[in-house]
Amino acid sequence: MTRSFIYEAVAPEQPSYSHVWFNPQAFSCLEKFANKSNINFLEIGCFEGYGTNYFIDNFLGGTNSTITCVDPWIKYSESTVTGMSEWDDVINQETFNVFRRNTDQNSAKITIRRGLSKNILPSLNGFFHFILIDGDHSEEAVWLDAIMSFRLLHSGGIMIFDDYDWNIGKKSPKLAVDRFVEEYKDVIYYNQIGNQIIVEKIAANLQA
Ligand SMILES: C[S@@+](CC[C@H](N)C(=O)[O-])C[C@H]1O[C@@H](n2cnc3c(N)ncnc32)[C@H](O)[C@@H]1O
Repeated sequence: MTRSFIYEAVAPEQPSYSHVWFNPQAFSCLEKFANKSNINFLEIGCFEGYGTNYFIDNFLGGTNSTITCVDPWIKYSESTVTGMSEWDDVINQETFNVFRRNTDQNSAKITIRRGLSKNILPSLNGFFHFILIDGDHSEEAVWLDAIMSFRLLHSGGIMIFDDYDWNIGKKSPKLAVDRFVEEYKDVIYYNQIGNQIIVEKIAANLQA
């Protein structure tokens, strides 16, 4: 007597997001990098991987094109300068497992650097074509992310600040972004689309 086994096909798990904080409109400026080889993106604040998957699926299909993901994946009250606790139910240690599950199909393109951006950014080597600043939205943290990221940006590279006018005072990116745009005005082009500020690093050969 022979036994036969029936294997049921198991569909791969689809990504599932509790919140989608993402406006693709501003990212059309990244078309110039789409599906080229050796393109490197950096995302500061990755949450459940929606943006990470979007960037990979739309722009990073080329050979050796990758994204580096920086996020501590701990309670938001513990990772932010201003200790915002109202998001702790949504952003916490468990979020890391959701990120891993959601980005599993793209894992070959992702380098995870788990930690606070102020600790991770100084340890990064090389240059990035695009950097999204979307981590701790406190003024002090956004300022540090901005100046440390700008050093890591290629000439002609793009940096986007998300949630420009989210919250007020020291809990908002706005004052840091305004200061950055003013202090770096000779070496950047910038534009605003909705609540995102887009900065392009002027290519070195264009600087006087
Ligand atoms: C608005 S969510 C990011 C959304 C994400 N870019 C997306 O497209 O879905 C903010 C993220 O910033 C992270 N974060 C908070 N403080 C941080 C810090 N000091 N350094 C880096 N990331 C931080 C949080 O853990 C959270 O995952």
